[in-house]
Amino acid sequence: MTRLARYTCSMTPSLPHTGSCFLADEAATLDFGERLALQIASPAVIYLRGQLGAGKTTFSRGFLRGRGHMGSVKSPTYTLVEPYEEVLGGPVFHLDLYRLGGGQELAYLGLDDYLATRGVLLIEWPERAEGELPAPTIDLTLLPQAAGRTLKLMSVEASALAALPHDAA
Ligand SMILES: Nc1ncnc2c1ncn2[C@@H]1O[C@H](COP(=O)(O)OP(=O)(O)O)[C@@H](O)[C@H]1O
Ligand SMILES: [Mg+2]
Repeated sequence: MTRLARYTCSMTPSLPHTGSCFLADEAATLDFGERLALQIASPAVIYLRGQLGAGKTTFSRGFLRGRGHMGSVKSPTYTLVEPYEEVLGGPVFHLDLYRLGGGQELAYLGLDDYLATRGVLLIEWPERAEGELPAPTIDLTLLPQAAGRTLKLMSVEASALAALPHDAA
């Protein structure tokens, strides 16, 4: 499987599991998202951190592809949430909280209904509502590095990460 060669990750065996991957290009970010989508079960909460253009939406595209979504994936920058209710493994809600004024706006905007879901939540800019969100199953941070991205991840669930390609920690 040549696509595995696009990136490697290293993981720690202790809790919380932390890992680091180098994603050389956009295709690697898509691949990573797709693979992760095949590993984790609902309900799950994935925090996506990193500056504008870091690759959070790209990851989400890969994730939704992994869940069988064939259509386009729009960035929820203005809508704040895009629902994907008909995908494999149960609904996925993609949120982008960049424009949120604070955690108290979640209820006002009706987003707390989404947060109570038994589906998967992909949450860009979770820091905009820190303390008001469900705890993450996986906490991801994307950082520009050379022409690619370094991805840092933290999870309390080994199963979510165990099947990702990685070097022995
Ligand atoms: N691993 C990577 N290496 C280089 N470029 C990447 C990588 N992953 C994504 N990109 C590019 O970076 C940009 C990320 O945009 P986007 O995913 O919308 O970022 P964000 O949602 O974090 O603001 C896109 O142009 C995408 O092609
Ligand atoms: Mg985005």
